Amino acid sequence: MKYKSILFVCHGNICRSPMAEFVMKKFVEDAGISEELTIASCATSTDEIYHGIGNPVYPPAREELRKHNISCDGKRAVQMTRSDYRMYDLIIAMDKYNVRNIKHIVGPDVDEKIWLLLDFVACIDNKEPQRLSSRDISDPWYTGDFITTYKDILIGCQGLLEFLKK
Ligand code: 4NP
Repeated sequence: MKYKSILFVCHGNICRSPMAEFVMKKFVEDAGISEELTIASCATSTDEIYHGIGNPVYPPAREELRKHNISCDGKRAVQMTRSDYRMYDLIIAMDKYNVRNIKHIVGPDVDEKIWLLLDFVACIDNKEPQRLSSRDISDPWYTGDFITTYKDILIGCQGLLEFLKK
């Protein structure tokens, strides 16, 4: 497989990016390719990190995962660091604001590693992903709607799985 490591990124690392991390971990496990991949998630901000200790996944996000038999036990928010840029093959943001903040942390995207999660939806129809040209994942921090966020993340991760398998 060309891509071996994936980092999902959002603002706080307590809602969208951990949901994507644990949905994707389940997908690759079910596809029998989990041994070949490293999957993690992080925040652009320190909003959910106090004295170096990150908050756990936000309860409604955890509950939405649990409804689909997905556990996120033990996950705590961590902030992205500059070295993550060389550690990961794919850096996948939930929205365009995240992309801007990722670049503030890591500098310019010289290796074109940064994507939006919904860029990969095209891969479900056997098309090429269009890098950084899709809409944002619905942000439950503002909508309170974790079901729509889960649906967005699900189709993004389905597309990403097709992309990885090719
Ligand atoms: P997330 O959600 O980025 O999906 O984890 C948010 C969590 C915290 C804040 C915003 C979004 N906040 O402003 O503290």
